[in-house]
Amino acid sequence: MYNDNPTLDKLKQLDEQKQGEVFELSEADFYDPNYKYFYIESYGCQMNFSDSEIVASILAESGYRPTRQMELSDLILINTCSIREKAEETVRKRLRVFDKVKRNKPGTMVGVLGCMAERLKKKWLEEEKLVDLVVGPDAYRDLPNLLNEVEGGDKGINVILSREETYADISPLRLDSNGVSAFISIMRGCDNMCSFCVVPFTRGRERSRNAFSILAEANDLFERGYREVTLLGQNVDSYKWENPESGESVNFAMLLEMVAKVDPDLRVRFSTSHPKDITDEVLHKMAAYENICKYIHLPVQSGNSRILELMNRTYDRQWYLERIDAIYRIIPDCAVSSDIIAGFCSETEEEHQDTLSMIPLANYSMSYMFFYSERPGTLAARKYPDDIPTEVKKRRLQEIIDIQTQVSFKHNQADIGKVFKVLIEGDSRKSTDDFKGRNSQNKMIVFPKQSPYKTGDYVQVRVTDATSATLIGELVS
Ligand code: SAH
Ligand code: SF4
Ligand code: F3S
Repeated sequence: MYNDNPTLDKLKQLDEQKQGEVFELSEADFYDPNYKYFYIESYGCQMNFSDSEIVASILAESGYRPTRQMELSDLILINTCSIREKAEETVRKRLRVFDKVKRNKPGTMVGVLGCMAERLKKKWLEEEKLVDLVVGPDAYRDLPNLLNEVEGGDKGINVILSREETYADISPLRLDSNGVSAFISIMRGCDNMCSFCVVPFTRGRERSRNAFSILAEANDLFERGYREVTLLGQNVDSYKWENPESGESVNFAMLLEMVAKVDPDLRVRFSTSHPKDITDEVLHKMAAYENICKYIHLPVQSGNSRILELMNRTYDRQWYLERIDAIYRIIPDCAVSSDIIAGFCSETEEEHQDTLSMIPLANYSMSYMFFYSERPGTLAARKYPDDIPTEVKKRRLQEIIDIQTQVSFKHNQADIGKVFKVLIEGDSRKSTDDFKGRNSQNKMIVFPKQSPYKTGDYVQVRVTDATSATLIGELVS
């Protein structure tokens, strides 16, 4: 697909020259008035960032090139998230900014993609006059047609959810890439119906992507110099794909092994695991392959069984702790992280204490922590009053953050003196004299550069110091 399209060929060349950093190119050098340009901003989870790369690929096929400068672009896209109210507010603010650009450059098209497009559908076109195009997460193949409609003076909208679409055959155009790590989407949608969550409504039913297309993408990335892939899904443990020819079915543990076998130098990560579904088979595969990273994101949401039931998470505290035990038993050097929600409907102080005590028990290396934000249409919004006052939610969240910070600090301090294999991802944020990279446990390590090492190399690094967020180290010769 890449080869017989001149636009893509050119992009691929640039991609290779700059190790995938298409967006880093200066437009002064490459701006070509013969092309149309698109600018895309992504919000929300990794899945959305991964989808933007599918969108970029579809647009490149229709003669568009990516640009980092929205003022230069013919098409401004925002790939949106609906997970919490705040995410939606951010999008509305950005649309005001885009509107200014549009006024300076009439004819610029503005499109809303992703989960908010799905949630608000036609409302966008009625209420937000500045939006020309609304495209839901399963309708990106329709983008070229919709753009034609917009160019013809109409509005473009397609928010139809699909039971089959996995974009399996589309080779994503890597945006903002360091040329070392990439996401591979292995499934779409979610069937879990956690009561607080909008995702099943915005992304529809769960479906798994053809395992061979996943493998082909991993192989292609490795050949192009990438050294790390993250397999993405809302619930990777329920991955299940049936080979229509042989009738054989591939589960997540099998898929993990297939990707791990691409090359021992290709690191494999995955996200997100669901506590009810993560199997010992997956844990044993992780233990068996050095290149399957020893890191599991296993969101607990709450440490209290009654709240977990209201959340419809279908596991309880004891089940979760048993899974944590299994992880540390089968993979002793594994790091575990979590997502935690403070102040879910009817949560008492005592129940909140159960969440606090979960953090040191599970010994999370880090967590993403939120206070509950009611989402219209969800099970919780329909069934349970959002009755915890905002100040209480915020105070509980702060207590969660404080304990997690302490636990992360201890977790990182325990690494001082250890030597880790680190994949170099590029310059550290603070200094071009330092590299940054991750160890298998997904911890960021910063260390002084030394020749001949470069981005994409594996090096051995000894940890000399640690904060709650980062490890500091030195190369071991
Ligand atoms: N599929 C993943 C989560 C995707 S959403 C999983 O099941 O773990 C990412 C995180 O956002 C969730 O884990 C949850 O902690 C948080 N979240 C989702 N809905 C929320 C809401 N209504 N209010 C606050 N946080 C929410
Ligand atoms: Fe939302 Fe639950 Fe599905 Fe995660 S598993 S996306 S929290 S419904
Ligand atoms: Fe947000 Fe949609 Fe992801 S709601 S978290 S972008 S699946």
